[in-house]
Amino acid sequence: MAEFRLPKNSRIGKGRHFAAPEGAKNVKVFRVYRWNPDDGSNPSVDRFEIDLDDCGPMVLDAVIKIKNEIDPTLTFRRSCREGICGSCAMNIDGTNTLACTQPISEIKGEVRINPLPHMPVVKDLVPDLTHFYAQYATIKPWIRTQSTTPPDRERLQSKEDRAKLDGLYECILCACCSTSCPSYWWNGERYLGPAVLLQAYRWLADSRDEATGERLDALDDPFRLYRCHTIMNCAKTCPKGLNPAKAIAEIKKMLMVRRGV
Ligand code: SF4
Ligand code: SF4
Ligand code: FES
Repeated sequence: MAEFRLPKNSRIGKGRHFAAPEGAKNVKVFRVYRWNPDDGSNPSVDRFEIDLDDCGPMVLDAVIKIKNEIDPTLTFRRSCREGICGSCAMNIDGTNTLACTQPISEIKGEVRINPLPHMPVVKDLVPDLTHFYAQYATIKPWIRTQSTTPPDRERLQSKEDRAKLDGLYECILCACCSTSCPSYWWNGERYLGPAVLLQAYRWLADSRDEATGERLDALDDPFRLYRCHTIMNCAKTCPKGLNPAKAIAEIKKMLMVRRGV
């Protein structure tokens, strides 16, 4: 499992404590990372006691409850609430995952919630994903063609070719894998990381794409691709059950075939 690493700007100070309402019988403690760039203080961890009898079942329900009822300044991303948008990715109980699909009942003891590790923090549970998205843009994540577009229909794909995208198209770019990858922690400036490389392979594997050569040229680099050392944290942590390490291995295989190895 991905181990929790403190965000890059961390020196944890003492946090605040918020007790459960009187009479609460099913209390769970949530320890939540806090950092406000505007108040000049070090980061801290706040302790919230939540009555689970008055809370939804997922960690995101508890985080929303804290914001709505206890501390409106708590900052986090979320949108779809059903594991599709990828925006609620955080480190929960030491593992990167989606808060909206992580049942509270599966966590023993106190629930520790931190931002995705090893990324700069914007505020509280919001990591700065600017560099991650810029890296995603470098792989040109769209179909690139040279042939003339058929005048009367879409570019078609056989069922067999479409099946080659299974295990790739489901990626929601939550960044759980990249921020659990030790190679990405240490070389993230230049190594593309598992999420972006899985996406790169998604286009290489698409029978309709006609830019295979250019895509491989762009990846054939000691840092962009070859910093993957098959540590496999990425596959263990992916909340969608995908295997970025396998996609990376497929890219390496394509490069070997091209070189005639
Ligand atoms: S491969 Fe999985 S963990 Fe990585 S970005 Fe995609 S959905 Fe998230
Ligand atoms: S297999 Fe590669 S991409 Fe996945 S965690 Fe390990 S080094 Fe990172
Ligand atoms: S809120 Fe969209 S994935 Fe969790």
